[in-house]
Amino acid sequence: RRLVVLVSGSGSNLQALIDACADPAYGAEIAAVGADREGTYGVERAEKAGIPTFVHRVKDYPTRDAWDQALTEDVASYEPDIVISAGFLKLCGPRFLAAFPGRYINTHNSLLPAFPGMNGPGEALASGVKLAGATLFICDSGVDTGPIIAQCAVPVEDDDTVDTLTERIKEAERAQLVESVGRMVKGGWKVEGRRVRLG
Ligand code: GRF
Repeated sequence: RRLVVLVSGSGSNLQALIDACADPAYGAEIAAVGADREGTYGVERAEKAGIPTFVHRVKDYPTRDAWDQALTEDVASYEPDIVISAGFLKLCGPRFLAAFPGRYINTHNSLLPAFPGMNGPGEALASGVKLAGATLFICDSGVDTGPIIAQCAVPVEDDDTVDTLTERIKEAERAQLVESVGRMVKGGWKVEGRRVRLG
């Protein structure tokens, strides 16, 4: 099975997938890594692993739709079975979603539907919840609203800062991503309304 991974940042989730794919028993290969900005450590990690990369910056295109089209075409050229947003900080447009129906997934650092958006760990901490976590879901046109594939919880400790909580979430998030993608690759998945069933 072929994966394309999209990143905007440090790419630690990408690295977890690169490491998992090194074992042929995992059943997947990363065909390409794309980014929406130059100079990300995620793209550097891909280059080090010998994975093809591409960058499409919104500001290099006349319209958001033109950017969306360029991104869609590049991703599609690698014929992915699953497209993974791993810290990709752009909402993809209707063209992109239509090209990879039910196959474009995102990992988010909160227990959705709580705390969508850019500051999941900070909002969890400020709200006083005692459990935080990460959610893997199928992207739709909303912000962190799609059908949920998997969730994992971690405790919020009394002395947590945003940084310590973020790190605890990310560790669990990476393990969840690797495990869930592995299951999707091996057994497939079904979307029934809001519910996703892994094979
Ligand atoms: C992840 O925690 C993800 O939930 C959030 O950004 C982080 C990306 O981290 N949207 P990395 O680039 O994979 O290290």
